[in-house]
Amino acid sequence: MPTHALAHRLFPSAEAASEALAAEIADLIRSRAAENRSAVFGLATGSTPLRLYAELIHLHRAQGLSFTNVVTYNLDEYLGLPRGHPESYWQFMHFNLFDHIDMRPENIHLPDGSTAEEDLASYCEAYEQSIREAGGIDLQILGIGHNGHIGFNEPGSQSDLRTHVAELSEMTIRNAAQSFGGAEHVPGRALTMGVRTILDARRIVLLAFGESKAEIVRRALTEEISPDLPATYVGAHPDASFYLDQAAAP
Ligand code: GLP
Repeated sequence: MPTHALAHRLFPSAEAASEALAAEIADLIRSRAAENRSAVFGLATGSTPLRLYAELIHLHRAQGLSFTNVVTYNLDEYLGLPRGHPESYWQFMHFNLFDHIDMRPENIHLPDGSTAEEDLASYCEAYEQSIREAGGIDLQILGIGHNGHIGFNEPGSQSDLRTHVAELSEMTIRNAAQSFGGAEHVPGRALTMGVRTILDARRIVLLAFGESKAEIVRRALTEEISPDLPATYVGAHPDASFYLDQAAAP
């Protein structure tokens, strides 16, 4: 497996990193709007992008940044959760971003966790097709799991997968247990963009904040590209960067 030289940018705080990324997103939205074109973003859930989403809402309210030309595709969703479930990523995204900006509802895409078992393969293909028809993802935002997962591409995930059904690792289930009121309530599977989908984005920014991420960030930045640590795959991308606060820096 090739090694890589992943770029990273170190910011004084998570707020500063989130503001810098929000400014970059706003610039792309505005320059595309000026050309009557859309801007396509791949979005992540988890606590890490919350400040970014808050900053985007702020730019909408304070500067009138409009999201009417924005198209979004979320990375993943728990399988078996209907969209109305309080822990669904659908709810998370609406509560933390979409309900507060002027996105067109038809431009919002998240994998549907209530897809019937027999429809999953065609559903995953349709999600990919939709991304292609939108012109591909301009900027993919990622977080990183404590085991190095991106989206729900857990350790062991191959690099050639597109949107698919993934099994959640024990660590991921343990980390989600509190918000679900116990590990037994965490779905065991998810729909997730694959590594190939993620690497097809024109630019990738992985956000990692806080001391608890420092060790996995250090490994992702220094180890060879390997399925054992899916975040290392980001190193194979020509325009990818980790945005870190001081605490998460290696
Ligand atoms: C979940 C999500 C990931 C996210 C990760 C880290 O597993 N599927 O996309 O990156 O959690 O979450 P946090 O940002 O809360 O540390």
